[in-house]
Amino acid sequence: MDALELLKSRASIPSVSLGEPGPSEAEITEILTIASRVPDHGKLVPWRFILYRGDGRTLLGERLAEIHRRKEPGLPGAVYEQDRMRFANAPLVIGVISRAAPHVKIPEWEQVLSSANAAFSIVLAAHALGFTAQWLTSWAAYDEEAKAALGVKPEEKVTAFVHIGTPKVPRFERPRPALADIVTEWEP
Ligand SMILES: Cc1cc2nc3c(=O)[nH]c(=O)nc-3n(C[C@H](O)[C@H](O)[C@H](O)COP(=O)(O)O)c2cc1C
Repeated sequence: MDALELLKSRASIPSVSLGEPGPSEAEITEILTIASRVPDHGKLVPWRFILYRGDGRTLLGERLAEIHRRKEPGLPGAVYEQDRMRFANAPLVIGVISRAAPHVKIPEWEQVLSSANAAFSIVLAAHALGFTAQWLTSWAAYDEEAKAALGVKPEEKVTAFVHIGTPKVPRFERPRPALADIVTEWEP
């Protein structure tokens, strides 16, 4: 697909509707290589990636559901069930982890922005390879116990969990912002 058509056609599909096939080993390497080329002020590499795939994710889901049930008891059962399957629907989930930290020269905010670029590069690279991706975070990204279960260190932050697979449902379009509402001309 032409590069502009590719950019214009990117859209998410909910992760519950993403199934096999997912990217091959070589495709995962390609996706992560592309993600590692993002603008990075100071060349600090203020991000890293975690791959969630395979059967072990069932255990991860049990752990997340247990944490959620303990911290917020009494929610509808479907909520905890969603936790159980959170990382097991799409064949591959790539965690984009921000390692942003105070630095003498480079603002922490810019380091965070670099990690967001890495996450979106993953989304676009997946799309270019014929897969569909959804960038999710959820409560688990902000809960210290859940972060530990997910392999994220206390000093790190979750930028994205990018769920990647093949859509099981037809693609759909949502309205996009009108440029007239968001673009202004700077005036002296
Ligand atoms: C930082 C970030 C976190 C997000 N977290 C969630 C989330 O937890 N749940 C969700 O439904 N969508 C989340 N989204 C939005 C989806 O990725 C997606 O953009 C949305 O479903 C709209 O679809 P679109 O990508 O086709 O515009 C998040 C987006 C960003 C940028």
